[in-house]
Amino acid sequence: MAEQATARTVPVAEEVGRMYDRMTVLAAGLTGGDGFNAHLGYWDTPDSPLTYDEAMDRLTDVMTDRLRIGAGSRLLDVGCGVGAPAVRIARRTGAGVTGISVSREQVERADVLAREAALTGRVVFQQADAMRQPYADATFDAAFALESMPHMPDRAQALREVRRVLKPGGRLVLTDFFRRPAHRDDDPSLRAAMGSTLAELDGYPALLRSVGLEFVEMTDISEETVPRSFALLAERARGLDLADDDIEARCYFDPQALMDPALLGYLLVVARRPLAE
Ligand SMILES: C[S@@+](CC[C@H](N)C(=O)[O-])C[C@H]1O[C@@H](n2cnc3c(N)ncnc32)[C@H](O)[C@@H]1O
Repeated sequence: MAEQATARTVPVAEEVGRMYDRMTVLAAGLTGGDGFNAHLGYWDTPDSPLTYDEAMDRLTDVMTDRLRIGAGSRLLDVGCGVGAPAVRIARRTGAGVTGISVSREQVERADVLAREAALTGRVVFQQADAMRQPYADATFDAAFALESMPHMPDRAQALREVRRVLKPGGRLVLTDFFRRPAHRDDDPSLRAAMGSTLAELDGYPALLRSVGLEFVEMTDISEETVPRSFALLAERARGLDLADDDIEARCYFDPQALMDPALLGYLLVVARRPLAE
């Protein structure tokens, strides 16, 4: 199946890296530390008392539980941010983690985080493009992509690379944004400002199969994630004095001000490299 992206502008890895260098410095100023998450929160129920920080960790855990890894496993974290999910997964599972990001700023901060967590060597980071991964075939036992797929210039190529570096039977767990079918009016210029595109919900299983991955699970987790994350992001964004015309930063730190959360769907996907090919 052809690429599922729907916006008009295709992200460029170098531009996305530059954008994340800048967003990471801004976010570090806001959170006051190195080891922050850069993704939506997950609340199991509408009355869940989790804070935004706790809910971000909860999303990491919801995904980790589907990876089926343990001590001695090697996990690839595609689009690792500043390493908070990788460090959390390594601690929870005992696995080793290799994180890649196109942002040099993020990789440097992630290295510091791993060192501070006394995980140097077991959790490692590298500046690399998921579209051309610097790893041999069948290197990893599992792969994890928390909100990085929207930035891929071509989802199929990124998934093909993940399949190549996974061992047979290895699982991939990812999240991705999709257009809600009832809302066809997502603004492509905002997507372009974020260096991202939206997927089509219905096309995902076929997309996975087209690159030789087995489809295992697809769950719409929009309600558990998007509205509350956007509302809490808006509160946090008050700590940043963002200019009205700084669309790039406003998309990241206060998306609610620019787009209706109801437009946006959020998807949890599990796939697997077939055991026999
Ligand atoms: C929304 S952030 C999520 C970061 C991290 N997974 C987390 O949850 O904290 C998206 C991440 O994808 C990375 N990314 C975007 N395009 C990439 C590419 N082509 N190759 C590797 N990483 C990429 C960004 O640098 C960033 O780290």
